[in-house]
Amino acid sequence: MKGFAKRTAEVGEYYFSIKLKEVKRLTEEGHPVINMGIGNPDLPPHPSVIGELQDSAAIPSNHGYQGYQGIPELRIAMSEFYRRHYAVDKDPQSEILPLIGSKEGIMHISMTFLNEGDEVLVPDPGYPTYSSVTKLLGAKVKPYALLDSNAWYPDFDLLEQQDLSQVKLMWCNYPHMPSGAKADISVFEKLVSFAKKHQIVLVHDNPYSFVLEDSPKSIFQAEGAEEVALELNSLSKSSNMAGWRIGMAIGRKDWIAEITKVKSNMDSGMFLPLQKGAIAAMGIDEDWFEQKNQVYGARRKLIWRFAELLGLEFKRDTAGMFVWAKLPSGISGYQFVDVLLEKAHIFTAPGEIFGTEGHGYVRFSLCIAEEKILDAIKRIESIKPIF
Ligand SMILES: Cc1ncc(COP(=O)(O)O)c(C=O)c1O
Repeated sequence: MKGFAKRTAEVGEYYFSIKLKEVKRLTEEGHPVINMGIGNPDLPPHPSVIGELQDSAAIPSNHGYQGYQGIPELRIAMSEFYRRHYAVDKDPQSEILPLIGSKEGIMHISMTFLNEGDEVLVPDPGYPTYSSVTKLLGAKVKPYALLDSNAWYPDFDLLEQQDLSQVKLMWCNYPHMPSGAKADISVFEKLVSFAKKHQIVLVHDNPYSFVLEDSPKSIFQAEGAEEVALELNSLSKSSNMAGWRIGMAIGRKDWIAEITKVKSNMDSGMFLPLQKGAIAAMGIDEDWFEQKNQVYGARRKLIWRFAELLGLEFKRDTAGMFVWAKLPSGISGYQFVDVLLEKAHIFTAPGEIFGTEGHGYVRFSLCIAEEKILDAIKRIESIKPIF
Protein backbone atom coordinates (compact mmCIF):
# COMPACT_ATOMS: atom_id res chain seq x y z
CA MET A 1 0.00 0.00 0.00
CA LYS A 2 1.49 3.33 -1.04
CA GLY A 3 -0.34 5.56 1.44
CA PHE A 4 -3.58 7.46 1.67
CA ALA A 5 -4.40 10.41 -0.55
CA LYS A 6 -2.83 13.67 0.67
CA ARG A 7 -6.29 15.15 1.14
CA THR A 8 -7.03 12.82 4.05
CA ALA A 9 -4.44 14.74 6.07
CA GLU A 10 -6.49 17.91 5.55
CA VAL A 11 -9.39 16.75 7.71
CA GLY A 12 -9.49 15.27 11.20
CA GLU A 13 -12.00 13.02 12.91
CA TYR A 14 -15.17 14.98 13.60
CA TYR A 15 -15.20 16.33 17.19
CA PHE A 16 -18.59 14.73 17.87
CA SER A 17 -17.38 11.35 16.70
CA ILE A 18 -14.55 11.46 19.28
CA LYS A 19 -16.59 12.95 22.10
CA LEU A 20 -19.58 10.66 21.66
CA LYS A 21 -17.32 7.71 22.42
CA GLU A 22 -16.69 9.32 25.82
CA VAL A 23 -20.42 9.91 26.25
CA LYS A 24 -21.03 6.20 25.48
CA ARG A 25 -18.35 5.12 27.96
CA LEU A 26 -19.84 7.25 30.76
CA THR A 27 -23.30 5.84 30.04
CA GLU A 28 -21.97 2.28 30.11
CA GLU A 29 -20.32 3.04 33.46
CA GLY A 30 -23.75 3.90 34.88
CA HIS A 31 -23.74 7.70 34.34
CA PRO A 32 -26.50 8.48 31.84
CA VAL A 33 -25.45 11.55 29.88
CA ILE A 34 -27.92 14.26 28.86
CA ASN A 35 -26.97 15.11 25.29
CA MET A 36 -27.58 18.75 24.36
CA GLY A 37 -24.89 18.71 21.73
CA ILE A 38 -26.36 17.61 18.48
CA GLY A 39 -28.92 19.17 16.14
CA ASN A 40 -30.64 15.93 15.25
CA PRO A 41 -34.43 16.43 15.27
CA ASP A 42 -36.04 13.98 17.70
CA LEU A 43 -39.64 14.75 16.65
CA PRO A 44 -41.25 12.63 13.91
CA PRO A 45 -42.28 13.79 10.44
CA HIS A 46 -45.98 14.38 9.71
CA PRO A 47 -47.91 11.03 9.68
CA SER A 48 -48.88 11.53 6.03
CA VAL A 49 -45.18 11.55 5.13
CA ILE A 50 -44.66 8.17 6.76
CA GLY A 51 -47.88 6.86 5.14
CA GLU A 52 -46.60 7.85 1.67
CA LEU A 53 -43.26 6.18 2.32
CA GLN A 54 -44.95 2.96 3.47
CA ASP A 55 -47.48 2.85 0.63
CA SER A 56 -44.85 3.52 -1.97
CA ALA A 57 -42.42 0.97 -0.51
CA ALA A 58 -45.18 -1.69 -0.70
CA ILE A 59 -45.31 -1.38 -4.50
CA PRO A 60 -42.95 -4.02 -5.97
CA SER A 61 -41.89 -1.91 -8.95
CA ASN A 62 -40.71 1.02 -6.78
CA HIS A 63 -37.33 -0.39 -5.78
CA GLY A 64 -35.21 0.28 -8.82
CA TYR A 65 -32.65 2.97 -9.61
CA GLN A 66 -34.04 6.44 -9.98
CA GLY A 67 -33.10 9.35 -12.24
CA TYR A 68 -30.37 11.82 -11.24
CA GLN A 69 -32.71 14.78 -10.95
CA GLY A 70 -35.49 13.17 -8.94
CA ILE A 71 -38.97 12.53 -10.32
CA PRO A 72 -40.67 15.56 -11.95
CA GLU A 73 -43.34 15.63 -9.19
CA LEU A 74 -40.63 16.07 -6.56
CA ARG A 75 -39.13 19.05 -8.38
CA ILE A 76 -42.61 20.51 -8.86
CA ALA A 77 -43.30 20.07 -5.12
CA MET A 78 -40.01 21.88 -4.34
CA SER A 79 -40.90 24.67 -6.72
CA GLU A 80 -44.36 25.05 -5.16
CA PHE A 81 -42.83 24.99 -1.69
CA TYR A 82 -40.60 27.91 -2.69
CA ARG A 83 -43.52 29.82 -4.21
CA ARG A 84 -45.80 29.26 -1.22
CA HIS A 85 -43.35 29.89 1.59
CA TYR A 86 -40.81 32.32 0.15
CA ALA A 87 -42.74 33.89 -2.76
CA VAL A 88 -39.87 32.81 -5.02
CA ASP A 89 -40.53 31.38 -8.49
CA LYS A 90 -38.14 28.71 -9.72
CA ASP A 91 -38.53 26.47 -12.75
CA PRO A 92 -38.88 22.83 -11.63
CA GLN A 93 -37.35 21.62 -14.91
CA SER A 94 -34.13 23.55 -14.86
CA GLU A 95 -33.58 25.58 -11.69
CA ILE A 96 -34.07 22.94 -8.98
CA LEU A 97 -31.94 19.89 -8.25
CA PRO A 98 -33.04 17.44 -5.51
CA LEU A 99 -30.13 16.29 -3.34
CA ILE A 100 -29.43 13.47 -0.92
CA GLY A 101 -29.29 16.02 1.91
CA SER A 102 -27.91 19.51 1.59
CA LYS A 103 -24.54 18.42 3.01
CA GLU A 104 -23.81 16.54 -0.20
CA GLY A 105 -24.73 19.71 -2.07
CA ILE A 106 -21.79 21.45 -0.37
CA MET A 107 -19.49 18.87 -1.96
CA HIS A 108 -21.19 18.95 -5.38
CA ILE A 109 -21.17 22.74 -5.60
CA SER A 110 -17.54 22.89 -4.47
CA MET A 111 -16.55 20.23 -6.99
CA THR A 112 -18.37 22.08 -9.73
CA PHE A 113 -16.71 25.46 -9.16
CA LEU A 114 -13.36 24.97 -7.43
CA ASN A 115 -9.90 24.21 -8.71
CA GLU A 116 -6.91 23.59 -6.47
CA GLY A 117 -5.68 26.85 -4.99
CA ASP A 118 -8.96 28.76 -5.47
CA GLU A 119 -10.08 30.67 -2.40
CA VAL A 120 -13.38 30.27 -0.60
CA LEU A 121 -14.95 32.71 1.86
CA VAL A 122 -16.28 30.74 4.80
CA PRO A 123 -18.24 32.15 7.78
CA ASP A 124 -16.47 31.98 11.14
CA PRO A 125 -18.22 30.71 13.19
CA GLY A 126 -20.06 28.48 10.75
CA TYR A 127 -20.95 24.95 9.68
CA PRO A 128 -17.61 23.06 9.61
CA THR A 129 -18.37 21.23 6.34
CA TYR A 130 -17.81 24.37 4.23
CA SER A 131 -14.16 24.37 5.33
CA SER A 132 -13.55 20.62 5.31
CA VAL A 133 -14.92 20.18 1.78
CA THR A 134 -12.87 23.17 0.57
CA LYS A 135 -9.73 21.58 2.04
CA LEU A 136 -10.54 18.14 0.63
CA LEU A 137 -10.56 19.70 -2.83
CA GLY A 138 -7.21 21.44 -2.36
CA ALA A 139 -8.82 24.88 -2.34
CA LYS A 140 -8.04 27.50 0.30
CA VAL A 141 -10.33 28.48 3.18
CA LYS A 142 -10.54 32.24 3.74
CA PRO A 143 -12.59 32.67 6.92
CA TYR A 144 -14.63 35.84 7.37
CA ALA A 145 -15.46 36.76 10.94
CA LEU A 146 -19.04 37.01 12.13
CA LEU A 147 -19.18 38.87 15.42
CA ASP A 148 -21.84 39.51 18.01
CA SER A 149 -20.96 43.22 17.79
CA ASN A 150 -22.11 43.17 14.13
CA ALA A 151 -25.23 41.03 14.78
CA TRP A 152 -23.37 38.02 13.30
CA TYR A 153 -23.46 39.61 9.85
CA PRO A 154 -20.41 39.99 7.58
CA ASP A 155 -18.35 43.15 7.95
CA PHE A 156 -18.30 44.27 4.31
CA ASP A 157 -15.80 47.09 4.92
CA LEU A 158 -13.33 44.58 6.28
CA LEU A 159 -14.03 42.16 3.43
CA GLU A 160 -13.41 44.90 0.86
CA GLN A 161 -9.96 45.55 2.34
CA GLN A 162 -8.84 42.03 1.46
CA ASP A 163 -7.37 40.71 -1.79
CA LEU A 164 -10.39 38.96 -3.27
CA SER A 165 -8.93 38.22 -6.69
CA GLN A 166 -8.62 34.47 -6.07
CA VAL A 167 -11.97 34.06 -4.29
CA LYS A 168 -14.38 31.98 -6.33
CA LEU A 169 -17.03 30.92 -3.84
CA MET A 170 -18.59 32.40 -0.71
CA TRP A 171 -20.72 30.49 1.80
CA CYS A 172 -23.36 32.23 3.90
CA ASN A 173 -26.11 30.83 6.12
CA TYR A 174 -29.10 32.57 7.75
CA PRO A 175 -30.73 31.77 10.12
CA HIS A 176 -27.13 31.37 11.09
CA MET A 177 -25.82 28.23 12.69
CA PRO A 178 -24.54 28.37 15.43
CA SER A 179 -25.54 31.90 16.56
CA GLY A 180 -29.20 31.74 15.51
CA ALA A 181 -28.95 35.22 13.91
CA LYS A 182 -31.97 35.73 11.68
CA ALA A 183 -31.89 36.41 7.99
CA ASP A 184 -32.30 40.01 6.93
CA ILE A 185 -33.11 40.93 3.32
CA SER A 186 -30.91 44.02 3.44
CA VAL A 187 -27.96 41.79 4.41
CA PHE A 188 -28.83 39.40 1.58
CA GLU A 189 -28.82 42.41 -0.77
CA LYS A 190 -25.38 43.46 0.44
CA LEU A 191 -24.11 39.89 -0.02
CA VAL A 192 -25.51 39.80 -3.55
CA SER A 193 -23.93 43.11 -4.60
CA PHE A 194 -20.62 42.08 -3.00
CA ALA A 195 -20.69 38.80 -4.94
CA LYS A 196 -21.60 40.58 -8.16
CA LYS A 197 -18.85 43.17 -7.77
CA HIS A 198 -16.17 40.54 -7.15
CA GLN A 199 -17.53 37.85 -9.52
CA ILE A 200 -17.97 35.38 -6.68
CA VAL A 201 -20.49 32.52 -6.61
CA LEU A 202 -22.55 33.17 -3.49
CA VAL A 203 -24.07 30.08 -1.88
CA HIS A 204 -26.73 30.55 0.75
CA ASP A 205 -27.25 27.49 2.95
CA ASN A 206 -30.80 27.69 4.28
CA PRO A 207 -31.75 24.65 6.39
CA TYR A 208 -33.16 26.54 9.41
CA SER A 209 -35.74 28.91 7.94
CA PHE A 210 -38.64 26.87 9.36
CA VAL A 211 -37.35 26.59 12.90
CA LEU A 212 -38.55 29.36 15.24
CA GLU A 213 -38.61 31.82 12.34
CA ASP A 214 -41.93 33.65 11.77
CA SER A 215 -41.16 34.68 8.23
CA PRO A 216 -38.92 32.23 6.35
CA LYS A 217 -36.56 33.95 3.93
CA SER A 218 -34.64 32.95 0.83
CA ILE A 219 -31.61 34.63 -0.77
CA PHE A 220 -33.71 34.84 -3.95
CA GLN A 221 -35.87 37.48 -2.28
CA ALA A 222 -32.90 39.81 -2.70
CA GLU A 223 -32.76 41.71 -5.98
CA GLY A 224 -30.27 40.35 -8.48
CA ALA A 225 -29.65 37.13 -6.51
CA GLU A 226 -30.65 34.92 -9.46
CA GLU A 227 -27.50 36.03 -11.32
CA VAL A 228 -24.92 35.29 -8.63
CA ALA A 229 -26.46 33.03 -6.00
CA LEU A 230 -27.30 29.43 -5.35
CA GLU A 231 -29.36 28.25 -2.40
CA LEU A 232 -29.29 24.95 -0.56
CA ASN A 233 -32.35 23.89 1.36
CA SER A 234 -33.28 20.75 3.24
CA LEU A 235 -36.13 18.81 4.83
CA SER A 236 -33.82 17.64 7.64
CA LYS A 237 -34.78 20.33 10.13
CA SER A 238 -37.88 21.88 8.56
CA SER A 239 -39.76 18.57 8.32
CA ASN A 240 -37.97 16.43 10.95
CA MET A 241 -36.51 14.23 8.23
CA ALA A 242 -32.76 14.40 8.86
CA GLY A 243 -32.24 10.67 8.36
CA TRP A 244 -34.12 10.65 5.07
CA ARG A 245 -31.43 12.76 3.39
CA ILE A 246 -33.57 15.09 1.30
CA GLY A 247 -32.22 18.43 0.20
CA MET A 248 -32.23 20.69 -2.82
CA ALA A 249 -30.01 23.07 -4.74
CA ILE A 250 -31.71 26.02 -6.37
CA GLY A 251 -30.34 28.53 -8.82
CA ARG A 252 -29.65 29.50 -12.39
CA LYS A 253 -30.15 26.97 -15.14
CA ASP A 254 -26.57 26.77 -16.42
CA TRP A 255 -25.15 26.30 -12.90
CA ILE A 256 -27.72 23.66 -11.93
CA ALA A 257 -26.98 21.77 -15.18
CA GLU A 258 -23.25 21.73 -14.38
CA ILE A 259 -23.84 20.62 -10.76
CA THR A 260 -26.17 17.88 -12.06
CA LYS A 261 -23.41 16.67 -14.36
CA VAL A 262 -21.02 16.31 -11.40
CA LYS A 263 -23.67 14.73 -9.18
CA SER A 264 -24.65 12.17 -11.85
CA ASN A 265 -21.16 10.72 -11.52
CA MET A 266 -21.47 10.30 -7.76
CA ASP A 267 -24.82 8.69 -6.91
CA SER A 268 -27.54 6.71 -8.62
CA GLY A 269 -30.66 8.60 -7.65
CA MET A 270 -32.88 8.73 -4.59
CA PHE A 271 -35.12 5.86 -3.42
CA LEU A 272 -38.57 6.50 -4.93
CA PRO A 273 -40.59 6.04 -1.67
CA LEU A 274 -38.39 8.71 -0.06
CA GLN A 275 -39.23 11.05 -2.91
CA LYS A 276 -42.94 10.34 -2.45
CA GLY A 277 -42.68 11.04 1.28
CA ALA A 278 -40.79 14.26 0.57
CA ILE A 279 -43.56 15.41 -1.78
CA ALA A 280 -46.09 14.87 1.03
CA ALA A 281 -43.85 16.77 3.48
CA MET A 282 -43.69 19.80 1.24
CA GLY A 283 -47.47 19.96 0.97
CA ILE A 284 -48.10 20.12 4.72
CA ASP A 285 -49.92 23.21 5.97
CA GLU A 286 -48.69 25.92 8.31
CA ASP A 287 -50.35 24.47 11.43
CA TRP A 288 -47.92 21.57 11.55
CA PHE A 289 -44.89 23.90 11.40
CA GLU A 290 -46.46 26.05 14.12
CA GLN A 291 -47.01 23.06 16.41
CA LYS A 292 -43.43 21.96 15.90
CA ASN A 293 -42.21 25.46 16.72
CA GLN A 294 -44.30 25.52 19.89
CA VAL A 295 -42.42 22.44 21.08
CA TYR A 296 -39.06 24.02 20.21
CA GLY A 297 -40.16 27.32 21.80
CA ALA A 298 -41.02 25.63 25.11
CA ARG A 299 -37.72 23.75 25.10
CA ARG A 300 -35.83 26.94 24.32
CA LYS A 301 -37.31 28.70 27.36
CA LEU A 302 -36.01 25.86 29.55
CA ILE A 303 -32.58 25.96 27.91
CA TRP A 304 -32.49 29.71 28.61
CA ARG A 305 -33.17 28.92 32.29
CA PHE A 306 -30.43 26.31 32.22
CA ALA A 307 -27.96 28.74 30.60
CA GLU A 308 -28.84 31.49 33.11
CA LEU A 309 -28.20 29.09 35.95
CA LEU A 310 -24.73 28.54 34.52
CA GLY A 311 -24.15 32.30 34.35
CA LEU A 312 -24.03 32.45 30.56
CA GLU A 313 -25.11 35.29 28.27
CA PHE A 314 -27.27 34.74 25.20
CA LYS A 315 -29.68 36.45 22.78
CA ARG A 316 -33.38 35.60 22.76
CA ASP A 317 -34.40 36.96 19.37
CA THR A 318 -32.96 34.11 17.34
CA ALA A 319 -34.08 31.36 14.95
CA GLY A 320 -32.95 27.78 14.38
CA MET A 321 -32.60 24.88 16.77
CA PHE A 322 -29.83 26.09 19.06
CA VAL A 323 -29.09 28.45 21.91
CA TRP A 324 -25.67 30.04 21.42
CA ALA A 325 -24.27 31.28 24.72
CA LYS A 326 -21.21 33.26 25.75
CA LEU A 327 -19.08 31.90 28.56
CA PRO A 328 -17.57 34.02 31.32
CA SER A 329 -14.22 35.38 30.09
CA GLY A 330 -11.22 33.11 30.49
CA ILE A 331 -13.13 29.87 29.92
CA SER A 332 -12.92 28.13 26.56
CA GLY A 333 -15.79 26.16 25.07
CA TYR A 334 -13.70 22.98 25.25
CA GLN A 335 -12.97 23.51 28.97
CA PHE A 336 -16.62 24.22 29.71
CA VAL A 337 -17.84 21.15 27.84
CA ASP A 338 -15.33 18.90 29.60
CA VAL A 339 -16.26 20.22 33.07
CA LEU A 340 -19.99 19.94 32.35
CA LEU A 341 -19.54 16.39 31.13
CA GLU A 342 -17.35 15.33 34.03
CA LYS A 343 -19.30 16.99 36.87
CA ALA A 344 -22.91 16.89 35.63
CA HIS A 345 -22.83 14.30 32.84
CA ILE A 346 -24.27 16.81 30.42
CA PHE A 347 -22.85 17.06 26.92
CA THR A 348 -22.95 20.11 24.69
CA ALA A 349 -21.01 21.58 21.76
CA PRO A 350 -18.00 23.88 22.27
CA GLY A 351 -18.06 27.03 20.12
CA GLU A 352 -14.51 26.44 18.88
CA ILE A 353 -15.60 23.60 16.59
CA PHE A 354 -17.37 26.22 14.47
CA GLY A 355 -14.25 28.36 13.97
CA THR A 356 -11.88 30.63 15.89
CA GLU A 357 -14.60 33.22 16.47
CA GLY A 358 -16.56 30.55 18.31
CA HIS A 359 -13.96 30.67 21.08
CA GLY A 360 -15.58 31.25 24.46
CA TYR A 361 -19.05 30.14 23.35
CA VAL A 362 -21.14 26.99 23.66
CA ARG A 363 -24.07 25.72 21.61
CA PHE A 364 -27.07 23.98 23.17
CA SER A 365 -29.39 21.98 20.97
CA LEU A 366 -33.18 22.14 21.19
CA CYS A 367 -33.46 18.55 19.96
CA ILE A 368 -34.00 17.26 23.47
CA ALA A 369 -37.19 16.51 25.43
CA GLU A 370 -38.34 18.97 28.11
CA GLU A 371 -37.99 16.40 30.92
CA LYS A 372 -34.33 15.96 30.06
CA ILE A 373 -33.71 19.71 30.17
CA LEU A 374 -35.49 19.83 33.54
CA ASP A 375 -33.25 16.99 34.70
CA ALA A 376 -30.20 18.96 33.50
CA ILE A 377 -31.41 22.00 35.46
CA LYS A 378 -31.73 19.85 38.61
CA ARG A 379 -28.24 18.43 38.12
CA ILE A 380 -26.75 21.94 37.89
CA GLU A 381 -28.74 23.18 40.91
CA SER A 382 -27.41 20.32 42.98
CA ILE A 383 -23.74 20.93 42.16
CA LYS A 384 -23.70 24.70 41.74
CA PRO A 385 -21.26 26.45 41.37
CA ILE A 386 -19.94 24.32 38.60
CA PHE A 387 -16.87 26.55 38.01
C1 LIG B 1 -25.76 25.07 8.54
C2 LIG B 1 -26.02 23.67 8.10
N1 LIG B 1 -26.00 23.39 6.79
C3 LIG B 1 -26.22 22.15 6.33
C4 LIG B 1 -26.48 21.10 7.19
C5 LIG B 1 -26.71 19.73 6.61
O1 LIG B 1 -28.03 19.42 6.54
P1 LIG B 1 -28.58 18.17 5.71
O2 LIG B 1 -29.15 17.24 6.70
O3 LIG B 1 -29.59 18.74 4.78
O4 LIG B 1 -27.43 17.58 4.95
C6 LIG B 1 -26.51 21.33 8.57
C7 LIG B 1 -26.74 20.22 9.49
O5 LIG B 1 -26.57 20.23 10.65
C8 LIG B 1 -26.28 22.65 9.03
O6 LIG B 1 -26.29 22.94 10.34
